[in-house]
Amino acid sequence: MSKTAILQVNGEKYEFPLIVGTENEVAIDISNLRNATNGVITIDPGYKNTGSCESAITFLDGEKGILRYRGYSIEELAEKADFLEVAYLLIFGELPTKEQNDKFHNDIKAQSIVDEDIKKIVEAFPRTAHPMGVISSLTSALTAFNPSSVNVKSEEDMYKAIVKIMGKFPVLVAWTYRKKLGLPLDYGDDSLGYVENILKMMFRQPNACYIQNGVLIDALDKLLILHADHEQNCSTSTVRIVGSSHAGLFASLSAGISALWGPLHGGANQAVLEMLEAIKADDGDTKKYMVKAKDKEDPFRLMGFGHRVYKNFDPRAKIIKKAADEVLSNLGIEDPILDIAKGLEKEALEDPYFVDRKLYPNVDFYSGIIYRGMGIPTEMFTVMFALGRLPGWIAQWREMRLNNEPIGRPRQIYTGETERPFVSLVNR
Ligand code: CMC
Repeated sequence: MSKTAILQVNGEKYEFPLIVGTENEVAIDISNLRNATNGVITIDPGYKNTGSCESAITFLDGEKGILRYRGYSIEELAEKADFLEVAYLLIFGELPTKEQNDKFHNDIKAQSIVDEDIKKIVEAFPRTAHPMGVISSLTSALTAFNPSSVNVKSEEDMYKAIVKIMGKFPVLVAWTYRKKLGLPLDYGDDSLGYVENILKMMFRQPNACYIQNGVLIDALDKLLILHADHEQNCSTSTVRIVGSSHAGLFASLSAGISALWGPLHGGANQAVLEMLEAIKADDGDTKKYMVKAKDKEDPFRLMGFGHRVYKNFDPRAKIIKKAADEVLSNLGIEDPILDIAKGLEKEALEDPYFVDRKLYPNVDFYSGIIYRGMGIPTEMFTVMFALGRLPGWIAQWREMRLNNEPIGRPRQIYTGETERPFVSLVNR
């Protein structure tokens, strides 16, 4: 294959190099386009055809339904690894040895105390506040309690910042949840595994000891792994672009959390459950909602369906669908919502509208059903997504800083008024 691309602009030919990734993905390197052409740029709303970086973290092939972290398939990681090993893999590039894994966990535990004054911030939020707004604010507040900036030239400094946020974020998640329920804000138990401790921090009642349930630990571990990274999605791109201005890690993460909140991105898991509840309340009339989803005059979309990159089954959705069945049956829960979801999926997969547009269930379609089975309120679902995505955001931020990427600053094509004289107030 030729290693260049030729672009013809106004009769003039320009040659640009091709960049080929390790999975043979090809990009035209247009970084010199504007200089070479005296001002011509590309435009690509939503970046549907634009690569923002080269990255060695996550590979996904949307046509084939493949997702791999650092070369390992998501199916194998979900089955054989735990969340902390996956976090280490994503951030540092290799699966940890036993010593590295123990050290990572111990260093995280050593950083899992949050300044008592943060409790005052949590307490100041109204109980009705959306947990995503709370967790994004609390992550941002961490910058005030940890004001020194990370020296990215020092691996040690970088490592310290990473274990700090990996330690404190689950506490903030648990406090966000407990505040919503009016429970006391306290800590978990450092003798437990990372995921076990999260469950205890969230669910322990003040008057009873918390009994761990292996089914819940496995389910949460799997969910966090499946959400841990997804290359250059909206929130990850946000983390990278905010970090590219050399804003700190916690500030970049807080921005990423806000990006995740929207219903077209991570907020879809909440929207799916609300949609399934609405269908249930409407006598389970899935057909009515299928008609609405296809009606271009109706803003309703089938939440949990479709994906910018996957034009085939989202491999995460396959694993989650199976896990939803297992978790609910292990917990002895019969949730009519699961049957509605399965019915809706079946109808959509047979409907030409969805088939022609290659719209399949995505990661969010079944995840909320598991969270609900675990007793987590709907408004907390996207916070659980953020908990899983944390190592991915950290890995992407670290890669961006280590590669010394330039500040993200897209251009535009201006379509407003051309120059005109000012008209004073009395003459308007
Ligand atoms: N229901 C009905 N129609 C849809 C849906 C849907 N869920 N998704 C896409 N379409 C249609 C869309 O109307 C368009 O039709 P047409 O070609 O006739 O104009 C076509 O499919 C292509 O859609 P698009 O909006 O151009 O695709 P996109 O790549 O810009 O959007 C998406 C991707 C995920 C935002 C979109 O599929 C969507 O809104 N899905 C529902 C929300 C959702 O589940 N989001 C979670 C994504 S996975 C979690 C994560 O973010 O990591």
